[in-house]
Amino acid sequence: MINLGVNIDHIATIRQARGTDYPDPVDAVSICLAAGAGSITAHLREDRRHIQDHDIERLAAIPGLHLNMEMGANEEIIAICERLKPAACCLVPEKREELTTEGGLDVAGHRLHLAGVVERLSAAGVRVSMFIDPVPEQIRASKEIGAPVIELHTGHYANYQGEARARELAALAAGARLASDIGLMVHAGHGLTIDNTPAICAVPEIEELNIGHAIIADAVFKGLHQAVADFRAVMVR
Ligand code: PXP
Repeated sequence: MINLGVNIDHIATIRQARGTDYPDPVDAVSICLAAGAGSITAHLREDRRHIQDHDIERLAAIPGLHLNMEMGANEEIIAICERLKPAACCLVPEKREELTTEGGLDVAGHRLHLAGVVERLSAAGVRVSMFIDPVPEQIRASKEIGAPVIELHTGHYANYQGEARARELAALAAGARLASDIGLMVHAGHGLTIDNTPAICAVPEIEELNIGHAIIADAVFKGLHQAVADFRAVMVR
């Protein structure tokens, strides 16, 4: 069975849009786990656009929860991760102006810095993953700096159509094979939807998918009927 990690960032996005205290992403944890998720992913961004410090702190305090903290490799966030000790973290490139993570981390180009980050977080007991494109140089560099896990970036696969998508899927499959051959655990994620996920699941080395936007988007329509009906039911004189 491939593990499903549900990224709950966009529950916080809705909350932050209104400055209310609901919806609370922490309330999503038990629902996701009951529905078959094996882990919860949340990205504490430097600009705090969705998940806040009090969210990640409460998530990290849930007993037995396999929390995967997505994060840029910057000092402030690294220190938070060292203190909270989630089960896992995934290092991603992070730019303030981007709408979402736009590509994989350049591990090969930042070996020294990232090796130090992997060492610190591993020493804190956190299983560190590198979010990278399916490029052999990046996969080998991740192994060389001591990361036990890579998460392959499926965003290009998800955005492309036709032959370009088939080429990207082949690159993901080859990357997953190489990673597994050199002893890395392989995860994948970004841009996955109910339609484009099955082909990724056919790659045998992939052990975990992290999916957020499409799950929260689907939840809106899968839950809208009930939400409207519940309001109708309380609108009585
Ligand atoms: N994996 C990583 C490393 C990500 O940065 C994200 C986006 O936060 C995801 C998975 C989930 O992507 P999506 O929200 O498109 O499903």
